[in-house]
Amino acid sequence: MPAIILVGAQWGDEGKGKATDLLASRIDYVVKFNGGNNAGHTVVIGDEKYALHLLPSGILTPGVTPIISNGVVIDLEVLFGEISALASRGIDVSRLRVSANAHIITSYHRTLDKVTERFLGKRQIGTTGRGIGPSYADKINRVGIRVQDIFDEGILRQKVESALEVKNHLLVKIYNRRAITADEVVSELLSYADRLRPMVCDTSLELNNALDDDKIVLFEGGQATMLDVDHGTYPFVTSSNATSGGALTGSGVGPTRVDRVIAVVKAYTTRVGSGPFPTELFDESGEYLRAKGFEFGTTTGRPRRCGWYDAPIARYTTRINGVTDFVLTKLDVLTGLDQIPVCVAYDVDGTRVDEVPVNQSDFHHATPIYENFPGWTEDITGVRSFDELPANAQKYVLALEAMSGARFSAIGVGPARDAIVVRHDLV
Ligand code: GDP
Ligand code: IMO
Ligand code: MG
Repeated sequence: MPAIILVGAQWGDEGKGKATDLLASRIDYVVKFNGGNNAGHTVVIGDEKYALHLLPSGILTPGVTPIISNGVVIDLEVLFGEISALASRGIDVSRLRVSANAHIITSYHRTLDKVTERFLGKRQIGTTGRGIGPSYADKINRVGIRVQDIFDEGILRQKVESALEVKNHLLVKIYNRRAITADEVVSELLSYADRLRPMVCDTSLELNNALDDDKIVLFEGGQATMLDVDHGTYPFVTSSNATSGGALTGSGVGPTRVDRVIAVVKAYTTRVGSGPFPTELFDESGEYLRAKGFEFGTTTGRPRRCGWYDAPIARYTTRINGVTDFVLTKLDVLTGLDQIPVCVAYDVDGTRVDEVPVNQSDFHHATPIYENFPGWTEDITGVRSFDELPANAQKYVLALEAMSGARFSAIGVGPARDAIVVRHDLV
């Protein structure tokens, strides 16, 4: 089973980091294929807690080769900051490979991200402010800076100068900010060149060679299906393809090599930033989920919006990604609830709608139609097999499985690395 794709099923923070870590002992390569340091993955190993943003979570497992492929946008200061932080904790980062075609987040992307959000006022997206959107915009607009440009000062300067020509007009005349000089950008980027050079290669070639050699490659998605620029709740999305298709264009590996698509889904739903969220709770139940699930952003520390499980979203995720397996996380957070509502369909302006509506206004107007499931009170964090789960917890999982379109192969019962019930092997 050579290539496996792992994606988020909802609006992010489903526990993809932990799921990747679970599989990492059986894989050879882990690939971050989209996004940048907007991601925030928390992995708990024994007493140690790791927060990863730009590096894929699989880097924590000895023997795995981590790859940052062409679909990623890289903030070099963050990259080297994370590398040093991990190295100082004894993690081997020497095998890290970076695509020559990945794009760079420069200081003007970070500045533009922040000022455009401020300018949008109440209509803001609630971005992480890391420069992700402006960097992808430049990529699509064909004025981006790529990793390989850093090794040719002449080309780098020319590209930075032409990008800044328009951006400085915007910064000075529209946003009232100071102009950014090409010199400051170029010298900052060049300062990383010597450390970056040994890591850079044709990652598509390396990955395809590895697959030819029967190595196992895991593609670890950042963000999630509902934040995907094509399939998410546009414009309240990130600027990359976080879905399984993005793993292919984002890495230069073809679809015929993929055997399995795993979606990580929380036993309830959370979202950070603005945008529609039908099952969002504004009462004490929402507070309960936030406090018990510790739903605060790994990247920005913002409190996450919380709500019940949304089955039409899970079905949508199965369809968009071709999901073969779900990893259900945070079932333990629901312990102690008397009743657990699950959204089974929506009411859109008086009409029952069973699937995620394609029309943005309909989704904004969608109110959930709930079915209630009885809860359980037993502590499940020590449970390691499905049969040991309380009967109502089993029923809840099986009901979600029946509604979501693919089998639930693993169930998270706590933050720790081993707090998981495996029903079907994923690798
Ligand atoms: P990611 O962005 O999808 O990698 O997820 P985050 O790391 O941002 O958020 C998931 C959080 O849930 C992290 O703090 C994990 O340690 C934690 N977590 C993951 N799985 C479980 C689980 O099964 N139970 C509990 N209680 N916490 C979990
Ligand atoms: P992980 O990988 C949750 C959200 C932001 C904002 C929108 C656009 O940890 O699941 P951006 O900075 O990407 O332009 O912001 O996307 N967002 C995330 N929300 N988890 C993430 O990543 C996210 N990455 C971006 O909050 O609403
Ligand atoms: Mg996260």
